[in-house]
Amino acid sequence: MDMTVRPRRLRTSETLRKMVRETRVDAASLVYPIFVMEGKNKKEEIDAMPGQYRYTVDLFCKAIKSLYKDGVHAIMIFGIPDKKDEKASQAYAKDGIVQKALKAGKKACPDMYFITDVCLCEYTSHGHCGVISKKEVLNDPSVELIAKTALSHAKAGADMVAPSDMMDGRVGAIREILDKNGYENIPIMAYSAKYASAFYGPFREAAGSAPSFGDRKGYQMDFHNGREGIKEILLDIDEGADIVMVKPAMSYLDIVANAKEMIDVPMAAYSVSGEYAMVKAAAANGWIDEDRIVAEMSVSAYRAGVDIYITYYAREIAKMIRDGVIG
Ligand code: PBG
Repeated sequence: MDMTVRPRRLRTSETLRKMVRETRVDAASLVYPIFVMEGKNKKEEIDAMPGQYRYTVDLFCKAIKSLYKDGVHAIMIFGIPDKKDEKASQAYAKDGIVQKALKAGKKACPDMYFITDVCLCEYTSHGHCGVISKKEVLNDPSVELIAKTALSHAKAGADMVAPSDMMDGRVGAIREILDKNGYENIPIMAYSAKYASAFYGPFREAAGSAPSFGDRKGYQMDFHNGREGIKEILLDIDEGADIVMVKPAMSYLDIVANAKEMIDVPMAAYSVSGEYAMVKAAAANGWIDEDRIVAEMSVSAYRAGVDIYITYYAREIAKMIRDGVIG
């Protein structure tokens, strides 16, 4: 056959395939989400997330040391308090669960990078991400408490804060309160394009944060909208976000790819609990090859333009990079 261009020429050996790869992956870009609860010496497996746990602070310290050794150098902390109330008091309490985890964790594993999820839903009695009046989630009073929570995390030692509530104006409010209190060097990673998603199902069980009435569609985004995701991302950058995030990851990589063209800050994507649960369940049934699926899922996020990948599979991905399976 008379052909000048034969794309298969560049696929003839593993060495060559690796040489011409378009996407390179580095474990330095991985962030592992981790759940911390009150109590001592306890570790509870999350039903719908086999292999993921809620840790008491002591075992959390152990877990992050082992994680660090395995090549994961950044975590995102989620707190599960004992007491919940209307005002989410435990979210910004000096001895709240995240604050305690930060203090102990920094001592146990000083080289780990500590990011905190900043939200109220795990701390409110009604499970919404803000303050409620007449069944409505109020924006501005919620922002006030969210900013207070971010400051309290910074005071307890957080290296970065990540607001996930989707209230309007929260990034600006957090930047302002951090700066006023001498934390001008603490970066904000904003959950910017966060969609109202059924993919968060297992997380809500893990954190006991399902809303007791209604849903989150009044603040999280409608999954039919792509351009609105870009609008949220640009708005957060305007308000001072250092890093922006798209969430969930797998079904939302169009938002990553489109936004990436327009922005000059790092882009993160969060592969959420439902993505993890689906892979685990299918793998447990022997229907898919877990490692290969995780390899494709993660590389596709990077291929779309992600700089930071937040995933419950961080440890496994770090190993795959080390072993040369991906990279
Ligand atoms: C808190 C928050 C949620 C997740 C991250 N931060 C839950 C939600 O918005 O309902 C989801 C993470 C996951 O599913 O892995 N607002």
